[in-house]
Amino acid sequence: MGELKGELKVDEGLKETIACASTICRIELIEGTAILEYRGYNIHDLAKNSNYEEVAYLLLYGELPTKSELELFSEELKERRELPPQIIGLLTHLPPFTHPMVVLRTAISYLGSMDKYIHFKSHEKSIEKAKSLIAKIPTIVAYFHRIRTGQKLINPNDELNHAANFLYMLHGEEPTETEAKALDVDLILHADHELNASTFAARISASTLADMYACVVSATGTLMGPLHGGASQKVMEMLREIAVPWRAEAYVKEKLEKGEKIMGFGHRVYKNVMDPRTLELKELARKLAEEGEPKWFKISEAVEEAVYKYKKLLPNVDFYSASVYANLHIPDDLFINIFAMGRIAGWVAHIIEQYETNRLIRPRAQYIGPKSREYIPLSKREFQSKKLTVK
Ligand code: COA
Repeated sequence: MGELKGELKVDEGLKETIACASTICRIELIEGTAILEYRGYNIHDLAKNSNYEEVAYLLLYGELPTKSELELFSEELKERRELPPQIIGLLTHLPPFTHPMVVLRTAISYLGSMDKYIHFKSHEKSIEKAKSLIAKIPTIVAYFHRIRTGQKLINPNDELNHAANFLYMLHGEEPTETEAKALDVDLILHADHELNASTFAARISASTLADMYACVVSATGTLMGPLHGGASQKVMEMLREIAVPWRAEAYVKEKLEKGEKIMGFGHRVYKNVMDPRTLELKELARKLAEEGEPKWFKISEAVEEAVYKYKKLLPNVDFYSASVYANLHIPDDLFINIFAMGRIAGWVAHIIEQYETNRLIRPRAQYIGPKSREYIPLSKREFQSKKLTVK
């Protein structure tokens, strides 16, 4: 067992640790402004000019596609949208009250069991698995929702792009142009974010050379927590509880006075700096509110103002996502799944990068418990276990 050097200190939450080198995502804070880039392309340019398929290609291959490369890639995704009947069977058999993120990680694991090349990690085989996962995750999400609500399944529509097709499969009718564009941009904004907890979980799994499905299951499980992707669902619960904008300030004040966190605020990296994705999402939320239900956006703005007033915290990516999804008529418990639908492109890009530059990720812990204790035989241990209370 290696010696820990005396001067090494525990870095709680790995706040100051650079755990790997990567060419996928750049986050840099320069003079109070945050720069976020995928493969060197600014998130604002991508949100304005690109689409999810192109961004997924960029993350996977490292370069923007040519027109014909993008057409081919989009076709390849369309060809992979349908689910094998076994997966539809699984979705039918899972209890309808199962959280859709639990459904998603179970279905991804099942997809792995059906891939006879599951353990192959060549670049080509990894890209193949990546395309299949990117294409199928929206179908899994939409189909489970339709099954649990007793609605008939809608075949994927090849005329529609990735985002629009998801809304079509979920709702059974084609989205408006504004709705399709809003989800498309939302998926771009969620597609990657360097070593966030779920991506790090994926890379840890990949560093053991676990198969890609196992790595994505690790990531999916990690994303679900309320301190990560689970925050958007909690934000929506809060917006529903507040119900009208004028109640926001008192609600926020009371929560903060009780020492509770306000979901959708604060960030490990963007301290006192606005997350560039939040700016884009706020505009999306505003646009959807102007064309549809304005309530959620108005409450959100009031919450943002109050949290800044009482705690000087800024909203993160999950905050305005909630009102975007509510106005796309997405059920609250699917919000995290939408995050996963976007983030899958980043996860697979990071898994492939980890495979190809691999070093096992295995940090150390500083042991702070009792040391070198004498073993006491059971018969003599009567008064030793005072600290253990059996409930
Ligand atoms: N509401 C209220 N206070 C918050 C807060 C929130 N959402 N987020 C952070 N704070 C406070 C902490 O209580 C702490 O205050 P203190 O110094 O008085 O103790 C301070 O801000 C630092 O927060 P901390 O939790 O230590 O930062 P972190 O970098 O470890 O955690 C998050 C970052 C994202 C986990 C944290 O901000 C959070 O829990 N946010 C809510 C969940 C969320 O929206 N997650 C999605 C992230 S994209």
